[in-house]
Amino acid sequence: MAENTKTAKLTIGENTYDLPILSPTVGPDVLDIRKLYGQAGVFTYDPGFTSTAACDSTITYIDGEKGELMHRGYPIDQLAGQSHYLEVCFLLLYGHLPTAAELEDFETTITRHTMIHEQMHMFFRGFRRDAHPMATMVGVVGAMSAFYHDSTDISDPRQREIASHRLIAKMPTIAAMAYKYSIGQPFVYPRNDLDYAANFIHMCFAVPAEQYHVDPILARAMDRIFTLHADHEQNASTSTVRLASSSGANPFACIAAGIACLWGPAHGGANQACLEMLKEIGTVDRIPEYIARAKDKNDPFRLMGFGHRVYKNMDPRATVMKQSADEVLELLGVENNPLLQVAKELEQIALSDPYFVEKKLFPNVDFYSGIILEAMGFPTSMFTPIFALSRTVGWISQWKEQLSDPQMKIGRPRQLYLGENARDYTDIENR
Ligand code: SDX
Repeated sequence: MAENTKTAKLTIGENTYDLPILSPTVGPDVLDIRKLYGQAGVFTYDPGFTSTAACDSTITYIDGEKGELMHRGYPIDQLAGQSHYLEVCFLLLYGHLPTAAELEDFETTITRHTMIHEQMHMFFRGFRRDAHPMATMVGVVGAMSAFYHDSTDISDPRQREIASHRLIAKMPTIAAMAYKYSIGQPFVYPRNDLDYAANFIHMCFAVPAEQYHVDPILARAMDRIFTLHADHEQNASTSTVRLASSSGANPFACIAAGIACLWGPAHGGANQACLEMLKEIGTVDRIPEYIARAKDKNDPFRLMGFGHRVYKNMDPRATVMKQSADEVLELLGVENNPLLQVAKELEQIALSDPYFVEKKLFPNVDFYSGIILEAMGFPTSMFTPIFALSRTVGWISQWKEQLSDPQMKIGRPRQLYLGENARDYTDIENR
């Protein structure tokens, strides 16, 4: 628990209350208001949690002003450039970079959990072919609690670990199956001779009729996308997983809740919405029309892929993603992709426009990811499932951290009630 060496004074009327100030490793101090209601009989008010720390954590830290992100202290650009996704998964789950032996053991464990129960294939057949893959993923991941009863007891650390491994291992299989089902192609089983990212690409694009060779460049780009989306402090979907977990719900139900929350276009659904926006803009000469719409208070349109609750500078993930977009599109021979040109021009125009500068609206992780994914052959409907696949390790790491916190309580916010005062029921003939 953080140290409490300072105290804030809160005066309400004649009374003054001491609020302990908790000091973090890095970042803003935190006012501890846990006893406020008991002492002063008042609530705090913070819809959207813009100024509220819901927990303490040692996993990820974001400096929004500087545009910095680190996992267990390691900067994201170093992890994206020098590490790989399963090693980052180990780091997020266990708090340190693995030794060679630890990494080999972890990768073997994950590889050996990539298949799903054969009977779960039947779930996919219950969906319409044109169901959004996120709908399928929410359903199938939630249904995992009906199959893996030996890893749903959250009081058992070993079961928690098995559930963590199963979810990290099986999400690519489930996402790929959702894709295959949506295009009417047969499911492709995972292969233990392929690494995590290559396996996902193979399950998505291979067909039984012929050999499919995974381009190592694409596999590297895929792995980097997974790493860039792995965890991000207490974002909306992670907070959803923590709140679901606080009631004692099983890990599969909690992750299904996280997937559902991520789907929204203000959150993980922004990568799909961003690419659809770039396609709607179409050409560079139409950018000013959309910039004007984004600034118009009477127009609900927002520039998808821009802005962030925490980053008031460039999202460091977007910087890495932009470099990756240049590399991947050049390797694919589509460096003149008109969408990439529109994206780069839009970024330049927005970053020099006073509206975006004053509101500190910069490109976020979702701005360039869709361009890469589309160039790799994924339909826009698969963009958010890939985000969900990547973020599963973050959700699970935060879930594990919360369950091991002796102070954990069920999350139960209060409210500012503005409804009717008490009144008597009236019979219908008197209304
Ligand atoms: C993710 O939290 C995380 O960490 C999330 C994430 C993760 O890894 O988990 O980083 C992933 O969700 C990234 C964000 C993806 N979403 C989008 O790209 C959708 C477009 N962005 C916006 O919807 C918005 O910027 C949010 C939702 C991301 C943040 O919204 P906030 O923090 O609640 O800010 P706000 O809506 O109060 O906006 C502040 C001002 C407003 O203007 P005023 O009312 O002050 O005049 O900025 C404006 C907004 O209208 N604004 C935008 C804008 N985003 C904010 N105007 C135009 N275009 C935009 N994109």
